[in-house]
Amino acid sequence: MKLLKEKIEKEGNVLSDTVLKVDSFLNHQIDPLLMKEIGDELADRYADEVITKVLTIESSGIAPATFLGLTIGAPVVFARKRKSLTLTDNLYSSKVHSFTKNETNEISVSKNFLSPEDSVIIIDDFLANGEAVKGLLDIAEQAGAHVVGVGIVIEKGFQDGGKQLRKQGIRIESLARIKSLANGKVEFFEDGEF
Ligand code: G4P
Ligand code: NA
Ligand code: NA
Repeated sequence: MKLLKEKIEKEGNVLSDTVLKVDSFLNHQIDPLLMKEIGDELADRYADEVITKVLTIESSGIAPATFLGLTIGAPVVFARKRKSLTLTDNLYSSKVHSFTKNETNEISVSKNFLSPEDSVIIIDDFLANGEAVKGLLDIAEQAGAHVVGVGIVIEKGFQDGGKQLRKQGIRIESLARIKSLANGKVEFFEDGEF
């Protein structure tokens, strides 16, 4: 996706060989016009599927997921990372380990908002080791929902998540795929290149 790549090139900060900071449009400040395009592009890529629900995880998955939901006319459910006061039982939950942060979080979704009748798309901002996506897949499976695939804003192709998930036969559409962050430079995969 051209606009997204340009935005990453212009505003992204390479913090290390593995971490890209995109606080000005995705992870802190949000660019709604870019999010609208992201939602439309994800809807296009999955136009062949019937989707009844968009599933993501707080916090940075919510913006792209919501714009997709707006475009396709489906509700958006986000997994919570902390138990809320009102969300206490009747939950699907899964453990998500972050290698980046070296911590494990329990994520949860109310049983009220996912069912075996649902066809779900899983959305997240970054795909690194794939742990968040695996947790969301686990939750969808517990609900008996059908998963049509995954939509990612930025995939770091030099980490293993995308490869592992594709090997399991899971469809993943990533709008920008990064080949390398070495030497402070963002290098993208070409379309169709893996
Ligand atoms: P994984 O799910 O693919 O295994 O990813 P990982 O554990 O490495 O990611 C932990 C958190 O760090 C996630 O955000 C993820 O989106 C984010 N992340 C991973 N790599 C990068 C990166 O290169 N740049 C940026 N900006 N973020 C990255 P989170 O803790 O869930 O936070 P939130 O932003 O969704 O609230
Ligand atoms: Na995220
Ligand atoms: Na994030």
